[in-house]
Amino acid sequence: MRRIYLDHAATTPTHPEVAKAMLPYFAEVFGNPSSIYSYGQEAKGAMEGARTRVAELIGARSEEIVFTSGGTEADNFALKGVAYANEHKGNHIITTSIEHHAVMGACKFLEAKGFEITYLGVDEYGMVAPQDVQKAITNKTILISVMHANNEVGTIEPIEEIGEIAKEAEICFHTDAVQTVGHIPVNVDKLKVNLLTISAHKFYGPKGVGALYVRKGTKLVSLLHGGEQEKRQRAGTENVPAIVGLGKAVELAGQEMGKEAERLAYLRDELIKGLRKKIDHIRFNGHPTTRLPNNVNVSVDFVEGESMLLNLDLEGICASTGSACSSASLEPSHVLLALGLRPEQAHCSLRFTLGRGNTEEDIGRVLDVLPRVVAKLRAMSPLLKTQK
Ligand SMILES: Cc1ncc(COP(=O)(O)O)c(C=O)c1O
Repeated sequence: MRRIYLDHAATTPTHPEVAKAMLPYFAEVFGNPSSIYSYGQEAKGAMEGARTRVAELIGARSEEIVFTSGGTEADNFALKGVAYANEHKGNHIITTSIEHHAVMGACKFLEAKGFEITYLGVDEYGMVAPQDVQKAITNKTILISVMHANNEVGTIEPIEEIGEIAKEAEICFHTDAVQTVGHIPVNVDKLKVNLLTISAHKFYGPKGVGALYVRKGTKLVSLLHGGEQEKRQRAGTENVPAIVGLGKAVELAGQEMGKEAERLAYLRDELIKGLRKKIDHIRFNGHPTTRLPNNVNVSVDFVEGESMLLNLDLEGICASTGSACSSASLEPSHVLLALGLRPEQAHCSLRFTLGRGNTEEDIGRVLDVLPRVVAKLRAMSPLLKTQK
């Protein structure tokens, strides 16, 4: 049975050209980029090439890119780094109730250390209102962090407008762009951000590598202390093969992104249309138009998300019930609850995120399998029986 992978927001397969580009940097060009002899300098050259590519993709300067171990580290660096660098100015941070756990967890940590966090609500589509950000600002606000696009429901947030507000108020502004970089255009000047999080494995790069864009002049306290790597902002010998892979993934995304986004949006819309036609009592979550081209999040009344997921897996279809990090827990998704779904509706949700390998045939297969799975599960659903 051919497996159909529809969970690209969780991770993507490494592009074969990315894997090929990385290979020489394991055993041939294995030098430490801090070493001054040729082995080291060759590795350093490759790393700096990747830095330039990342910077170019987001309209930044290469000296503003700090490589990290991924999105989680970049988010933690942004949040904790700004908080501790500015605690003499204030202790208030504004974020939203739909952020990824990497931002949420850093905020909870800072809250326990005495920082005050405002978690802004969102509307029924998962959209943050820029005027709510404006209203939340106090003379103690040192940081605003709002994600570019939500990983569960796909809503793209009004980052430009929030950036304008932050700039006007001279407050540092961070966005977690893990779900957008490499998929839709991202430009740090247009978005007016000081800090922006990137993760390679979300756009066909390797896992365990990412970057934080740090606008020149932004003050951050480092998380890791040791050597002088990354201009003393992030100690530790760099993961050269992974960084080279990130650079290659960025290069490929730059070439393919526009066309691919159009193709995926078409497939996404076909999936939504088909599901709407074939299954009753469903609702689509996230913004109807201002959304990622590859995301479909659907709540199917009276059927547990986990049951649908397992039944789809038996038919070779991989999807998700929420973010990968929370899919092991039975807590309803904090994002869906923030959109106003009741816990039982949140438990009935499925996320499909499309990618490079998906075709119309894959969408056809989901539209064949899922209605059957739902009908079978509904036939034995205690949830449905209590409704009747
Ligand atoms: C929006 C968002 N931020 C951060 C992360 C964490 O990135 P990483 O897996 O590279 O640590 C993810 C991954 O799921 C994400 O979707």
